[in-house]
This record gives sequence, C-alpha cells and structure tokens, in this order.
Amino acid sequence: MDENLLNPELLANKLIEEEEEFHHVNNPVTGLKPIVKKYLGSVASVEQKGNKFYFTDGEARVEVTVVTDEIIRVRLAPHGVFLEEFSYAVPKLQPKPYVFSLHESENEYRVSTNTVNCHIRKKDFFVSFSDTQNHVTNEDAVPMHWEENVQFGGYYVFCTKSCHSEEAFYGLGDKASDLNLRGRRFKNWNTDAYSFNWNQDPLYRTIPFYISLNEGIAHGIFFDNTFKSTFDFGSEDRTRTSFWADGGELQYYYIHGPHMMDVVKRYHSLTGTHPMPPLWALGYHQCRWSYYPEAKVRAVTKGFRDRKIPCDGIYLDIDYMDGYRCFTWNRKYFPDPKKLVKDLAADGFKTVVIIDPGIRVDDNYWVFKEGKEKRYFCRRCDDYFMEGHVWPGRCQFPDFTNPEVREWWGGLFDELVQLGVAGVWNDMNEPAVFGAGTFPDDVRHQYDGFRGSHRKAHNVYGMQMVRATYEGLRKLMKNKRPFTITRAGYSGLQRYASVWTGDNVASWEHLRLGNIQCQRLSMSGVPFCGTDIGGFSGEPDGELFTRWIQLGTFSPFMRAHSAGDTKEREPWSFGEPFTAINRKFIELRYRLMPYLYSTFWEHHRYGFPILRPVVMQEQNEINNQARQDEFTYGDKILVCPVLEPGQLNRRVYLPTGTWFNYWTNEQSEGGQEVVVPTPLETIPLFIKAGAVIPEYPVMQYVGEKEIEEVKLNVYFTEHEVNSFFFEDYGETFAYEQDIYLEKKFIVAGKDSILTIQQSMEGLYTPRYENYHFNIIGLPFKASKVIIDGKEVKELILNEDKTLSFKFSKNFKHIDIIK
Ligand code: GLC
Repeated sequence: MDENLLNPELLANKLIEEEEEFHHVNNPVTGLKPIVKKYLGSVASVEQKGNKFYFTDGEARVEVTVVTDEIIRVRLAPHGVFLEEFSYAVPKLQPKPYVFSLHESENEYRVSTNTVNCHIRKKDFFVSFSDTQNHVTNEDAVPMHWEENVQFGGYYVFCTKSCHSEEAFYGLGDKASDLNLRGRRFKNWNTDAYSFNWNQDPLYRTIPFYISLNEGIAHGIFFDNTFKSTFDFGSEDRTRTSFWADGGELQYYYIHGPHMMDVVKRYHSLTGTHPMPPLWALGYHQCRWSYYPEAKVRAVTKGFRDRKIPCDGIYLDIDYMDGYRCFTWNRKYFPDPKKLVKDLAADGFKTVVIIDPGIRVDDNYWVFKEGKEKRYFCRRCDDYFMEGHVWPGRCQFPDFTNPEVREWWGGLFDELVQLGVAGVWNDMNEPAVFGAGTFPDDVRHQYDGFRGSHRKAHNVYGMQMVRATYEGLRKLMKNKRPFTITRAGYSGLQRYASVWTGDNVASWEHLRLGNIQCQRLSMSGVPFCGTDIGGFSGEPDGELFTRWIQLGTFSPFMRAHSAGDTKEREPWSFGEPFTAINRKFIELRYRLMPYLYSTFWEHHRYGFPILRPVVMQEQNEINNQARQDEFTYGDKILVCPVLEPGQLNRRVYLPTGTWFNYWTNEQSEGGQEVVVPTPLETIPLFIKAGAVIPEYPVMQYVGEKEIEEVKLNVYFTEHEVNSFFFEDYGETFAYEQDIYLEKKFIVAGKDSILTIQQSMEGLYTPRYENYHFNIIGLPFKASKVIIDGKEVKELILNEDKTLSFKFSKNFKHIDIIK
C-alpha cells in the first residue's frame, strides 16, 4: 500500500492533485494557462441559524440546511457571501419543524435528523451522509472547489463524490443512453436535437437530478443549478462521481432513500408534482406536421370515427398560422377556425395547437407590436435586440423569465380559448434558433428580478414559456384543466406540462431508446411523457408502427406524430392486419383509462412515478440493473414491449410474487425469467396477483357515452394487496376542494376464501350504480358470494373460468367462499 495513503494530510493533497488533473480546464479567455482551482480548507468554525448551519474555513462558507428529515441541502459561497435564495425548480422550501441536532467530535461536525446524518470532516471539509445505522451513503472524494470565471464573473463550481465499484446511476431526464448512466458523462444544455442518435448529448431538457443505487441502498442528488452543468458517473475515473456547472452556486440536495421510490417521492416534495390532467388527455392523440387545410383535418378525424378507432386529441402544427406568426390563422387553409374547432368538439375531438417562442419582426403584426411597445423581447448585453431566424423568418423572443411577460403571454391565448382550443403544444423553446442553435451567452434576462445572462436562463427558458402558457390557460379556461405539452424544460416543469421526447426517428433503435427515455423521464420527476409514435422522421413499416402503438399504449402520454415529408401516418395507414391490431391496443388504452387515471392520482398526490423500471421494483436484485426493456405501469401492470422486428417470443423477468398473464390469465411465479410468445397481436403484459384493475367500456372518445357500470378485474392472491381507484369529474379543479373519490381495495385470499374490502375518501359520487366484478384465478370453485351480509344470487362462471357478478359500487366487504 502507498504509505502516503496512511497519512490523512498527504492523502488529501494527493486527492487534490488528482482532481486538478481530472478537471484540468484551460483559461477560457486565453485558452492557455489553466486557471487555479480553489478548494475548501479545514473547518474553522460553525454557526447555527434555525435549521441552517454555516461552516467556514475562514473565508469560504458552506451552508447546510435541514430541509426535512430525509433531505439536506448543501450550498457553497467561495467568499462567504451566498446568493439570494431563488429557484425555479423548488418554489419554496417547506419550513416544517423537524428535530435535528449538531454534534461536535474531535474529527467532525455532524448535523443529524431522525433519518440522516450529514458529516463535515474538520481537517479537509469533506461532506458525507450516513443513515441511522452509520452506513455511509454518499461522501466527497475531494473537498468542494471552484474556479473564478474571468470572462463573466462568478465561478465554475465543482463537487466530486466517491463512486463505488457496483454503484448504478439513474435519472437526468431524457438522456439517450442506457438506463444505468454509469461510466458516462452528460451535459445539460437544452438543445434542439433533430433526429438525435443513441448516446447523443445534450438533448432537449435539463433535469440535474440523479438516483444512486449502491449495494441495494438508494439516495438522490439534485444539483439545482440552471447553468450549463456536467455530470460524470465514473467515466473519467471509475472511483468518482462529479458534477459541476459553468456558473451559479454549488447548491445540491442530498435526498435520502433507502428505496428508489422514496427518493423520487422526496424529489417531488421539493419540485412539485403534475396537476391532474383532463381525462381526455390520457386518450389517444393524433398529430402530424401538418394537417391542413381544414378538409384534411376533417378527413383524418372522420377516418377515426368511420373505422371505430378511438381518438381524443387532434393537433394543428405550424401551418395553421399565417406565415407562422403565433396567435394568427392562415385563413386560406382555415377560413372559419371557430366552426372547425366546434365541429371537431361535437365529434369528441379536442384541438391542440402548436405555439413557438419566436415572434416575427413585423410592425403590422399585433403580437410583435405589443411586445415591442412593452419592451418584452430579450436583448443582448449592449441593448441590441436578440434576433434570430426560426419558422416565421426574422424573430425576436419574449423574455419568459419576466413575470410581467409571462402574464402577457398567458393572455395572448384568449382568442384560441374562445375558439374552443383545448390544449397548447409548446415547441422550439430550448430556445432553438436556426443556424446559431440558440441565443448567444450575453443575452440578458430578467430572471424574476434576480437578473442573469443567457448562461443562467437558457435551461429554464422553455420551462418558463410553458409555465406562462399553462398559467394563462388556467385563468382563461376558468375552472377547466388546461392541457399543455413542452419540448424543453428544467426540473419542476412537471408542474406545468407534459413532454414528448422530441424529433426521433422511425427505427427499431429509436423504439428501444424511446422506451428507456420514458422510463428515465418518469423516474426523473417528469411523469407525463411519451415519444412520437412511429418516429418523427423516416418511414416505419407496418410492423414497427404497430409495435410502437403497443409501447405507446403504456406511455403516460400517447401521441402519434410525424414530419411533413413522410407518408401518411394514421393507425390505418398500413392496412391489415396492422389496423386491427392498432385498434385493439388503442381500445385497450381506453379500457384501462381508469387505472391510468388512478395511477396519475397516486403521482399527483403521493409523488409516485407512473412508469417504474423493474430495478425500482426490486432494487436489491443486481441483475435488474441491466433490465431496461420492461417496466411497470403504475404498480400493478408489468409491460414488456417488443423492440425487434420479427420477434415471435421474448424473455421477460417477473419480479418476485405471483403474476397473471393478461391475455391468458395463466399464473407464473416471479423471481425468474419466463419466455412469452409475442406474435404481432400481443406484447407481454402481466398483472400482479391481488390487483384490482378497473376498466371502462371502450369509447371512441372520453365522455362519448355515460358509463353504466365499471368492470373490476380482481386477481386472486394469498397475500394482502392494496389497490387504488380514483374518480372525479375529469376536467375541473374541483379535486383541489376534495371533490373526488379515492377508493382503496384490499384483497386477501386463502385456500377456501377470497375477501375484497373497499374504503372511500372524498366527496365525489360517480353516476353509475354497479361494479361488474370479474374474479380471476380463484383456486377453488365458489359456492357463495356474500356482500355486506347479503348473498349474491346471480353468479356466472365464464368459459375462461373467471367468476362474474354485479353489485353496488358502495359495497364494503365481499367474501367469496368455497
Ligand atoms: C419541431 C418539432 C416537431 C414539429 C416541427 C414543426 O421539429 O419538434 O414536433 O412538428 O418542429 O413545427
């Protein structure tokens, strides 16, 4: 062993030298001499103010904040002065009274809550975290450090942690790589990445939050810094995980686990959850660049109804506008938009229109005139306007980081809302500029009064645009839930919008990638996500399109979209057998809608992700780290899409427990891989034993028919299993006033009995009276069914051996007896 490693001081120096090598950065101005990195020295003193502790080495200060029992925030101020507290991701820290304490020992200070310890080592300022069993979950490998930025002022800030040999990493939003990020380095700088490739980086969004999983124990790091940031997960050096940014503060939240699910929930407690979407938005959406003129839109929507393929959303891409000017209509293609939107609505279609941030420089265009008069457009450092070319030609761009601009922007949707438009698709908001890529660094932003250059505002620009859109629509639509979708965003965007993964490609590789991206977005706090089904550019064949529809059926957001230079791309464009299979899966989407909606509620209220990779189900099972095809949809349905052409069967790993094949009701024990047939008509779908899966009747669109009864598929179990079923009006914010119904089912079985119990919370009453029970997998022949003391007379034993009966939706207790 190297003797130096035994001497703590020499060891620290050695680590620092290695670090110098690792982050060797040249002076950005001269391009020559490396800039000197400065490291925290030894801790000189500590001071406490409420739930904040300030440690100093004499000059630099480190603030440690107890946010909750499980979340601790660390901030660094190189010269002792912290920036004013402001974050677009974390609207406010909940100042809950938590029990915490500070201990001092010979070697360290320790800030402890009931769950976590944050250790600050005196001699070298190393920060580490441990649990109540003194198990260290996260520790610095070198002290926090920084470099002065001579060009812009401020600092490049760096944090380097130890990376363990088996540690896996998840999160970071939409990265186009394997699910486990280990061994790779990523940048966060929102980028318009048309036809991106596998491993291309950066893409459209910045979610600087990752989950580490080491020896079965998880924790999270949220580096809340909007500047261009980099994460290195043992890529440069296998033993280190580093994150750094080109400016701003070194500010991160340590989020305790030990379960990955806890980490995601706690991340949501900081950054918020997605509001309940309008129910229709969980239906199927049809999009294309571009459906025009009006006759084309009518033909496409009629095509759905004629062929009885359900659809709720129809999209208008940029060609509905006059010369691509936002908030205008091309009257040649759309002479009477009000009538069109109204007719579509009468046929169950909700119209969603695209809006881009680039506003055409044109003194005869009211939006430009207003923005110019009110000085709402972004300017360069020397006060010139920020100008760039996008779809409409020469454009200027609203500064969405200014609250007054957001308010104005929100109001611009008035006419569209009056016309009956139900949703807005926010595109090109990285922001994208043709040629240049994006804005230059020196563009100034108001940044909600905290001011900043584009270096600071770039990654939040898109999020603030969709925030302005969402908040504006929310006001204009009164009590109705708006639907918004965005391409770019930053952590916290889930409070305002759904997302799609951008301009993907019609290839099998992209189908695989989209599957990973959606799972990753889901575990990164962006639950309502989907891909362009079929691939934006290029031509899928019928098989690829159908396999994509099958995956899309289980994406929280389900939309087909394609570029304008491709062939027609509706679910019937490929003929039979594809049309029939596409219909079957879209119908399945509608049947499972109450299940998805309930899962959405679990997300909204409790912070659970909607898609959960199997590693989240069983994080102790090391092999799950490599399983990135399959995921659960909510916690009861396991989905394994088919991602290769001509695949007639595939291996599926079933996590521990009993699972029912959705198509055959056959039972399999988990904890093993099974081989499942995968003809084009199916993909492997398994239901967890004990689940209660609510189903609505198939409809061509949400609200087409009154629901007369709800089917409850109950899967036998020998254990006690809970399920949720959430219902409300599906389109208003009444749920914020407790007008909803959250039902909880508890299912438990034995050799000779199966019991189902129901409890309810909330003030909503659905119109239908009865549940239609369908009991699956009973290991005995039922002789009696007793519900709330009464025997049910009409029991039907179906051909597939399931047992059916009907009873009031208000039941409390069911015994199914041998
Ligand atoms: C961008 C979007 C794409 C859209 C196109 C035209 O490429 O990502 O979805 O169709 O612009 O508006």
